[in-house]
Amino acid sequence: MCGIFGYVGERDVVEVLVAGLKRLQYRGYDSCGIAVLDGNELAIVKEAGRIERLEQVLSRYTFQAKVGIAHTRWATHGKPTPTNAHPHIDCHGTVSIVHNGVIDNFLNLRESLLNRGHILRSETDTEVIAHLIEEELSKISHEGEKAFVFLKAVMKAVSQLKGSYAIACLWEGAPGVIVSARQGSPLLIGVGNNEACIGSDLNAVLPITKQVILLNDGELALVTQTKVWVFDIEGKEKKVAVQRIEWEVTEEDRAGFPTFMLKEIYEQPERIRKIIALRCQGANPPIFEELDMPPSQLIGFRRIIVQAAGTSWHSGLYGKYLFERYLRIPTDAEIASEFRYREPVLEQDTLVIAISQSGETADTLAGIRQARSRFVPVLSLCNVPGSTMTRESDAVIYLHAGPEIGVASTKAYTAQLAHLFLLTLHLARLKWLLSQDNINQLLDQFNQLPEKMEKILDEQESIVRECAKTFLDSRYFLYLARGINYPTALEGALKLKEVSYIHASGYPAGEFKHGPIALVDKDTPVVCIAPVDSVYEKTLANIEEVKARGGRLIVVTTEGNRDFDEMAEFIFTIPQIHEDLTPLLTVIPLQLLAHHVAAMKGLDVDKPRNLAKSVTVE
Ligand code: G6P
Repeated sequence: MCGIFGYVGERDVVEVLVAGLKRLQYRGYDSCGIAVLDGNELAIVKEAGRIERLEQVLSRYTFQAKVGIAHTRWATHGKPTPTNAHPHIDCHGTVSIVHNGVIDNFLNLRESLLNRGHILRSETDTEVIAHLIEEELSKISHEGEKAFVFLKAVMKAVSQLKGSYAIACLWEGAPGVIVSARQGSPLLIGVGNNEACIGSDLNAVLPITKQVILLNDGELALVTQTKVWVFDIEGKEKKVAVQRIEWEVTEEDRAGFPTFMLKEIYEQPERIRKIIALRCQGANPPIFEELDMPPSQLIGFRRIIVQAAGTSWHSGLYGKYLFERYLRIPTDAEIASEFRYREPVLEQDTLVIAISQSGETADTLAGIRQARSRFVPVLSLCNVPGSTMTRESDAVIYLHAGPEIGVASTKAYTAQLAHLFLLTLHLARLKWLLSQDNINQLLDQFNQLPEKMEKILDEQESIVRECAKTFLDSRYFLYLARGINYPTALEGALKLKEVSYIHASGYPAGEFKHGPIALVDKDTPVVCIAPVDSVYEKTLANIEEVKARGGRLIVVTTEGNRDFDEMAEFIFTIPQIHEDLTPLLTVIPLQLLAHHVAAMKGLDVDKPRNLAKSVTVE
């Protein structure tokens, strides 16, 4: 999705803006641009396509600027052309704006602006905001400090908007000032030493400063080199809360890997090691220091609803299996965009768990708001500190996956599974459903994960590569599994679709014969996730059914299992581990398979077409 960055200070503004844009590009974008105030004059450069292209154009100019705003656009209104790219300007080119979100009433606003003689150049909803600011500037008195005149005009303009927005604006009349506003789309302000910046995510802001103001919905900020003011929409000044955010900033380089996705797949053992160090000291039940919900409340829930989107929904499904098995609490795993509009039955003894890598997914956030408006508590499992979900939930568990740049989620997924497993043990202990011995045995298995993940990465990668080469031109893949690995089938299929554009579907193996089996012919690759577990025999029978119809079998199973030697074209093995932890291992060859197929097809693995890392619109 779109990314916003802005800077005011002594550094080379163009250089800082381009670096900021590069840190936002992982969110997915199709065009980009910057606006700087060169002295008192606005200069705008924008391009369709990659930031490198913008950089080339920028190299032709020299600007003497101290302030600027920048944007990566993921098209919603109008094609990705230079005209539709942000920043946008008013009629006279004195106001400039970048925007994330969607203005729902933009058609009405646009029509009335046109009727009042404005000339609009783009098809975007954003451009109307620049023109509304222009009108407000022409209506209000310009007495007093120009920064506050500008702030007032922006305030009056945004009060006419319906929808979601995070904006940053410049005005020639107030050099050295960025005015920002937030409603429904994330925005934060970095307060440095004699410099400040604004950004739509931490990745852009933290390289400048770790001192951050997290803007809330309905707030505006006036940002200058030396001071930041925050106001509500009525113009009432609010106390500025600056907090220090400790989060690793992603290295821009890929550490020798051809893609961020591959780097992140290989980071998984290290990440789980970190989670073990943080959560499982000694043989105690897991520790969740940040979990701000009293044990008396945690043990009282009689129903759990997990709601999430995409990959995070798959981990939610894994959570359902665990919660029902160990806690005996009825659990639903809901797709967030369905949950919010389905008029779900929400009772006081229900706990809603929201899972999200970014903490900004609009659908999941809406589900959180719906639950809380009905006085149902929400616990979020989230990777990004300070994100909107972490601020709007009753309690939070941080995932500690580190920044994830590849659009297709990998290490955040396994960090979600790991935390769901540990949370289950924590709750089971609180409820006296597992003995200390049981917990210790399970934690002992959990502690073996990093080593076993490494073994898969070391030993299976070349087989997966061979398999990817063999099935490169397949039109569709099927993924089958039973039980706790059913979410792995869904996740394997999603990974392949996301990065290789090959259609893939995941099914519960037992359900397969009720329709989808009709798809199988002698060319169909069928990926079967079949570790030797409590449902293994049943899965094996389903795999036989596929084989009998000529499907080409790719099997993920436990080391030493020889059942597939004759049957399967490719076998990926995982080391022996407790059944409920197998999803953290079986997914690894599937992540590699998706990656390698896409890479061999010459596709942009880290930025798949049409996708965005953080989906902040419905
Ligand atoms: C987007 C991404 C997916 C991700 C989903 C949920 O669609 O492309 O990879 O799984 O959002 O994101 P979240 O940040 O809430 O986990």
